[in-house]
Amino acid sequence: KRHLISATDLTRDDAVLILDTAEELARVADRPIKKLPTLRGRTVVNLFFEDSTRTRISFEAAAKRLSADVINFSAKGSSVSKGESLKDTALTLEAMGADAVVIRHHDSGAPHRLATSDWIGGCVVNAGDGTHEHPTQALLDAFTLRRRLTEGPNGGVGGDLEGRRVTIVGDILHSRVARSNLHLLTTLGAEVTVVAPPTLLPIGVAHWPCAVSYDLDSVLSKSDAVMMLRVQRERMNAAYFPTEREYARRYGLDGDRMARMPEHAVVMHPGPMNRGMEITAEVADSPRCTAVEQVSGGVSVRMAVLYLLLGGAGPADTTPADTTR
Ligand code: CP
Repeated sequence: KRHLISATDLTRDDAVLILDTAEELARVADRPIKKLPTLRGRTVVNLFFEDSTRTRISFEAAAKRLSADVINFSAKGSSVSKGESLKDTALTLEAMGADAVVIRHHDSGAPHRLATSDWIGGCVVNAGDGTHEHPTQALLDAFTLRRRLTEGPNGGVGGDLEGRRVTIVGDILHSRVARSNLHLLTTLGAEVTVVAPPTLLPIGVAHWPCAVSYDLDSVLSKSDAVMMLRVQRERMNAAYFPTEREYARRYGLDGDRMARMPEHAVVMHPGPMNRGMEITAEVADSPRCTAVEQVSGGVSVRMAVLYLLLGGAGPADTTPADTTR
């Protein structure tokens, strides 16, 4: 039984296999018949205890494009509101035959608890847990970076991120996206810099394998990609937080700052965005911003993760599904 709980679960070879498989699967999206029969008869449960737009919908789309049956569970409106535990929720889903459980939870460690329990028999995929990790977000970010910044064999996409300079800006303290990206990008050989006000950096950041800066302007010209993060007010005490105006002035990305980035450099955002705060509308809507590409790449990456966990370990079979069945 295999799981994906943390970006640290992945070796460089594992990550490259997922990204290459996602490239293969992305070609399916360009065909008239977008479905593959690979996971026919398997059941994927989306178990979401915390709100989500992109991750939940893209896991659902990914599982359906692989012909899996999908059960969507949202804690809101479920018996969780009556006090039902994670264990009893998991046992209920197991009784319905889940082959994979994609879990988002407000508690860091909930996916690990599920994966190491005997409550369910299937694979567990972490779709974001508290402030801990969001490994498929990091994979789709790497997928986007490979497409935008590298050339693969024969001039195609899928090159190496070795030595590429990625700057992650904003609420590092509360960001599972930053943690997973730091691990994965480092595994893939990229150089990471984190930029934030001191109050939005974790205490142990000096021990992280990255450079740390409080000054966004000083790193822009040395970045191949600048990844802007949302300030997660819902996870913080007001005392941590500078005023919105002050934050935007010092750490927000606007057109003037974007113009100081190298011509080839891209702006990334995992979403949801706070337009006007960490990113202006001008930047968010510019062709240099990959936010929408990140979402579409996310479907291919999540197809690859489900395929490799549930389907097989070799190159993806991209023979279309017989949609009449
Ligand atoms: N990037 C991301 O995880 O977005 P959602 O919270 O909408 O899933």
